[in-house]
Amino acid sequence: PAAVESKICALEPLREKRVKVYGWVHRLRNQKGIIFIVLRDGTGYLQAVLTGDVYEKANYEFLTAGPESAIELRGTLKPVPEGKSAPGGHELVVDYYTIVHAAPIGEEAFTNQLNAEADPSVLLDQRHLVIRGETASAVLKVRARALRAVRDTYEALHLTEVTPPCMVQTQVEGGSTLFKLDYYGQPAYLTQSSQLYLEASLPALGDVFCIQESFRAEKSLTRRHLSEYTHVEAELVFLDFETYLQHLEEFICQTVERLLADPVAAPLIKQLNPGFKMPERPFMRLKYADAIKYLNEHNILDGEGKQHKFGDDIAEAAERKMTDQINRPIFLTYFPTELKAFYMKRVPGHPEITESVDVLMPNVGEIVGGSMRIDDMDELLAGYKREGIDPSPYYWFTDQRKYGSAPHGGYGLGLERFLAWLLNRYTVRECCLFPRFTERCKP
Ligand code: 4AD
Ligand code: MG
Repeated sequence: PAAVESKICALEPLREKRVKVYGWVHRLRNQKGIIFIVLRDGTGYLQAVLTGDVYEKANYEFLTAGPESAIELRGTLKPVPEGKSAPGGHELVVDYYTIVHAAPIGEEAFTNQLNAEADPSVLLDQRHLVIRGETASAVLKVRARALRAVRDTYEALHLTEVTPPCMVQTQVEGGSTLFKLDYYGQPAYLTQSSQLYLEASLPALGDVFCIQESFRAEKSLTRRHLSEYTHVEAELVFLDFETYLQHLEEFICQTVERLLADPVAAPLIKQLNPGFKMPERPFMRLKYADAIKYLNEHNILDGEGKQHKFGDDIAEAAERKMTDQINRPIFLTYFPTELKAFYMKRVPGHPEITESVDVLMPNVGEIVGGSMRIDDMDELLAGYKREGIDPSPYYWFTDQRKYGSAPHGGYGLGLERFLAWLLNRYTVRECCLFPRFTERCKP
């Protein structure tokens, strides 16, 4: 009978039928009279067996075709007997095959020496091959599903997606991490955050979000800093800080719930992070001032080995230590005005602190940063001045405070940090396709 072509993930209804699949030789074992192949097509893994007549020909050919060869297989899909296990619970009994492209054998053969113990810089140079591995591809698959889950959550919460520009002439998070570029002879930057554009979109579209690359010329090599990362940002209007925090908790929890209910993502999350549990709600609230107390009471010192004081930027190591001790999501709120960007709204009656929040997760620390925004014209002009920002390129942002200004707030979530938390990865570098960080711009 003619074979039905199928992706591996969609084979289940085709049991006992003759099927045709394409993929790469993930593993191959050649025993006397029988070849076992684990075929990988990106949607899943399929065990295939070649015996009898097919084996006779294949035995010779597969001796000269190495792992990662691209092949076509046809045959009958059989459920595996009780007690035996195979991906998807079935096995392809091959009656016909084609080698589409034979990968090398011998010295040049693709090897699995690209394992966790290899030198990290070798692994990074070979990232184009590493991503074929089971762990790396599982992370990337969950990443794809996470993008979907984020979009579905925002749909449910009535936010509209926009796609702001990457090339900009304004900074959002300080001049020191800007990538500068020559824009037809004018200075411009790669965007650090789409926040200002989201704010400008509110009167046009209501609550909005975007999923856009952000760029930071970070000089520090840490496990959670990239030079280019995927930034999930949202901006909401007509709300106060408390409602804003509730939205943020809802967004995170709904997104995780969707992933845990997703037939593709859920088993991969379980495989990569067996201990993962849905965070308890409500999230713990911790004021910045109380975090400083916590750090001192628990003898968590700053980078110079000193006690923390109000106004200190809590460094990555201290932040992670505290979060790991508390071991649940934290809304760290009310940061000092001095520490934060020009656009953050101050607490009414307390100009020394802002209506701001960082979401901290165990193992990673900060995965979200956000705040309510200054909606008063004079306050914003004072904010530019305080940071030494020339207001002229910001005319369009300032205009929002002239034409129907309204209370609003937003946040940015680093997708790679979210995944590092969800999937218990050591570094954000594992959570994107081809990571960019200090001095690495390849492959
Ligand atoms: O805290 P950040 O700098 O805040 C903003 O950019 C705001 N303008 C966002 C907004 O309110 N719309 O960055 C937000 C998040 C961080 O919490 C972190 O998860 C991630 O972006 N992030 C990075 N991720 C990887 N590498 C880097 N260098 C990152 N810098 C920030
Ligand atoms: Mg931040």
